[in-house]
Amino acid sequence: MSSFLVNVLPKAHTYARSKCSIYGVNCMKAYSTNWEPKEPIVRTKTIPGPKSAELKSQLSAVQSTGTVQFFADYEKSTGNYIFDVDGNALLDVYTQISSVPLGYNHPRLLNIFKDENNLKTLINRPALGVFPGKEWPDKLNSILLNIAPKGLNKITTMMCGSCSNENAFKSIFLWYQTKIRGEKGFTAEEMNSCMINMPPGAPNLSILSFKGAFHGRTLGALSTTHSKYIHKIDVPSFDWPIASFPQYKYPLEDNVAENKKEDEKCLSEVQSLIEEYKKKDKPVAGVIVEPIQSEGGDNEASPAFFRALQKICKSNGVALLIDEVQTGGGSTGKFWCHEHFNLEYPPDVVTFSKKLQLGGYFHNDDFAPKEPYRIFNTWMGDPGKVILLEEILKVIKDEKLMANVEAAGKVLKQGLLNLESEFPQLLNSTRGRGTFLAVNCSNSKVRDSIVSTLRLNGIQTGGCGEVSIRFRPALIFKEAHANIVLDRFRNVLRSL
Ligand SMILES: Cc1ncc(COP(=O)(O)O)c(C=O)c1O
Repeated sequence: MSSFLVNVLPKAHTYARSKCSIYGVNCMKAYSTNWEPKEPIVRTKTIPGPKSAELKSQLSAVQSTGTVQFFADYEKSTGNYIFDVDGNALLDVYTQISSVPLGYNHPRLLNIFKDENNLKTLINRPALGVFPGKEWPDKLNSILLNIAPKGLNKITTMMCGSCSNENAFKSIFLWYQTKIRGEKGFTAEEMNSCMINMPPGAPNLSILSFKGAFHGRTLGALSTTHSKYIHKIDVPSFDWPIASFPQYKYPLEDNVAENKKEDEKCLSEVQSLIEEYKKKDKPVAGVIVEPIQSEGGDNEASPAFFRALQKICKSNGVALLIDEVQTGGGSTGKFWCHEHFNLEYPPDVVTFSKKLQLGGYFHNDDFAPKEPYRIFNTWMGDPGKVILLEEILKVIKDEKLMANVEAAGKVLKQGLLNLESEFPQLLNSTRGRGTFLAVNCSNSKVRDSIVSTLRLNGIQTGGCGEVSIRFRPALIFKEAHANIVLDRFRNVLRSL
C-alpha cells in the first residue's frame, strides 16, 4: 500500500462503516491512484456542524467570518470529496471557487515537495523581479509558455486574480500612452504631474467593462466589477464605461434570432461608449471581458459576440483583455475558454489564476514595458506554485483529463436538462461548456434553499448571480460523480 493509502484509509474507516468493501472501507477508485468514499457522508443535522460552529466562534474573535461556510479537514479530504471537521464528506463541485484542478491530496502533488530541490524552491521564495532563481527562465518557457494562448509569447507572473487584472490594466495603459508618445522619452511635465495624480503624467484613460462582470476586489479591478453591490459600496470608483452584457434566452437553439439581436444591442453599446468616452476626454484604452461571466451568474455570450467585440476593439485601437481567471485551466473543455470562440486574432492580454495556482497574464511584446519597475511587486508570483502547476499539467496529460471533462460534462449537462424538464417550475436555463455548468432557479430564495439543502445531502455547490447554481468540479470529476450529484439534486427538488 502506498503511504498515501496508509495515511488516508484508516481515518476514512470511521466515516464509512456500512458497506465496507476495500480495506474495510466503503470507498471507490475514483482516480487511478486516489481513493474516495463511495458516496457523500453526512453525519450532522446542520452544516456547519458543532465543531465548525465552535471554530467559527474562535475565528470571529480575530477575523470577520461572514463568508465562512464550514471548517474543512484538509488532511482527510481526498479526490472529489472535501471532509469537514464534523466528519461530513461532501462531493465538492464548487472546489474552492473553481480553484482545485486535481481534487484534494492528489498523490502526485503530495510527492512534489519530497524532492529536496523542490522543497528549497518552496522555502526560498525569491523577489522574482530582482533575484530570480537559475531555473526561472526554463520554468517559464517549459511550463507557462507551453500553455500560453495561441499568439501570445510573453508572460507576467503575479499572485492572485485581482492583482493580475490590476497589473494587466497598467500594461494596457502603458501600451496606449506609448503608442501616442512614440520613441520620445517622458517630458518633465509628465514626470512632475504624475507625482500629484494629474494629467498629462497620470492620463485620463479608461477600461470598458460589462454589467454583471467580476474582475476582482482591489481598487482598480473593482471599478470593472459589477456583480453585487456589497463588493463595491462605500469604495470610490473610476468613472469608466460599463456596457450591457448579453442576457440570453434558453434553450439557445430555440431563441437564435432574439439572442442575435441581444448581441447586436450590446455590441453597439460598446461602440457608442468608446465614442462617448473619447469625447469626454477619457478614452477607452482597453476592454475587459470574461468568456463566461462567472460570479455575475454564469452569463454566456456567443463566439460571434466575442469575434465582433474584438473587431470593435481593433478598429478603435483598444486592447482586448480576456479574463480567464475562473474559466482557464480546462474545465470548459478547452484549456482556455476563449479557444471556443475562433477569434480572428489572439486577444491582446489573457489573465489567469485559480486552477493555475499562481496568477499572471499572457501578452505580446507590445504590452511589456521597456523601463524597469513599471510593472513590478516583491514576489511577482511564486516558483513553488509553478512546480505544482508543472505536475498538474503532466497529470492532465497523463490521465487524459480534458477528455474526462468532456465526458463527465456531457452527463452532468444532460442530467441538468432532464431535471429542468422534470421540475420546470423550479429550474431553467441550463448552460455552460465542459463541466463549467450552471442552471437557474425560479427565484433567489429557491436557489439559496437548494444550495443549502444540497449541502445537507452531501453535495457542495455554489450560487452565482441572482438565481443561478454553478458547478465547478475538479478535472478528475467523472460520470459516476455526475450521477451522484444528479440523484441527490433530484431528491432535493422533490423535497421542495
Ligand atoms: C473572472 C474573475 N476574475 C478575477 C477574479 C479575482 O480573483 P482573486 O479572487 O484571486 O483576486 C475572480 C475571482 O473569483 C474571477 O472569477
